[in-house]
Amino acid sequence: MTEVYATPGSAATGTPAHAGASTFQPAACAGTPRPVLSVRQIEKVYGNRDSVTHAINDISFDVMPGEFVGIMGPSGSGKTTLLNCVATIDTVTSGHILVDGRDVTGLRSRALAKFRRDDLGFVFQDSNLLDTLTGFENVALALTIKGEHVSKVRTKVEDIARTLGVGEVLNKYPYQMSGGQKQRIAAARAIVADPKLVLADEPTGALDSRSAGVMLDTLTMMNEKLHATIMMVTHDSFAASFASRILFIKDGTVFNEIRRGDTSRADFFNRIMEVVTFLGGDVRDAG
Ligand SMILES: Nc1ncnc2c1ncn2[C@@H]1O[C@H](COP(=O)(O)OP(=O)(O)O)[C@@H](O)[C@H]1O
Ligand SMILES: [Mg+2]
Repeated sequence: MTEVYATPGSAATGTPAHAGASTFQPAACAGTPRPVLSVRQIEKVYGNRDSVTHAINDISFDVMPGEFVGIMGPSGSGKTTLLNCVATIDTVTSGHILVDGRDVTGLRSRALAKFRRDDLGFVFQDSNLLDTLTGFENVALALTIKGEHVSKVRTKVEDIARTLGVGEVLNKYPYQMSGGQKQRIAAARAIVADPKLVLADEPTGALDSRSAGVMLDTLTMMNEKLHATIMMVTHDSFAASFASRILFIKDGTVFNEIRRGDTSRADFFNRIMEVVTFLGGDVRDAG
């Protein structure tokens, strides 16, 4: 298979160009759904005059409603920087990031806090549950912070937890749960308040392979049954194969993009592996 070696926008991939700055069309035509996320020519430079790192050189892409997008790339390619910029944990040097049509790159701190709380859900490598709260309370907190009426909290939390297969651990504390259960409670917490976009940073990185499989099924369920739009950073080709589209990042730009389409996950995995091999072996990312 040679198509996976094509650069973004080539005829071989059948996908629109996303790396070139001049190729963008506004996606606001009538009948076209608005992207949940639009990353527009972002650049991120760290350092000062003595030492400068271009963590992101020029990245542009859209994520449409209901997509499950994976971000892959070698260590140091800019994945975490990209995720942190979208999460508004970090700021871009230039360019724009729009979430549901709203530019979040210029938000001030109060608006930023509200944006993160209302529009984003997070799943980290470590579940980051609060140890002194039960599973139920950890998930419920995401709702109460958002101001959800107390009468609706119990039903919402129980429904989501049941859907994600962790209804039975709601009364347990994190230390009483397995690693996989904690990650699924974290997934429930990320989605319970109905965010526009779920950001996952190596969500299976700390799990054994069996639990990782269950967690990836959980993310798939969030995407397919609960209609979550997900952007997941991973170094793991198996994890990436659960996504519907993968963007490969290299040297701070989008190097390639592949879509799963109607192919099986096993086939998609093989295509991912080909790109990973072509990218030069080390996509393993320690950080
Ligand atoms: N806070 C920072 N200060 C300076 N350089 C940084 C900082 N964060 C990341 N970098 C650099 O930016 C580049 C991209 O890093 P990162 O986004 O963490 O890559 P990845 O997650 O793909 O491994 C690397 O060269 C890294 O050393
Ligand atoms: Mg990283």
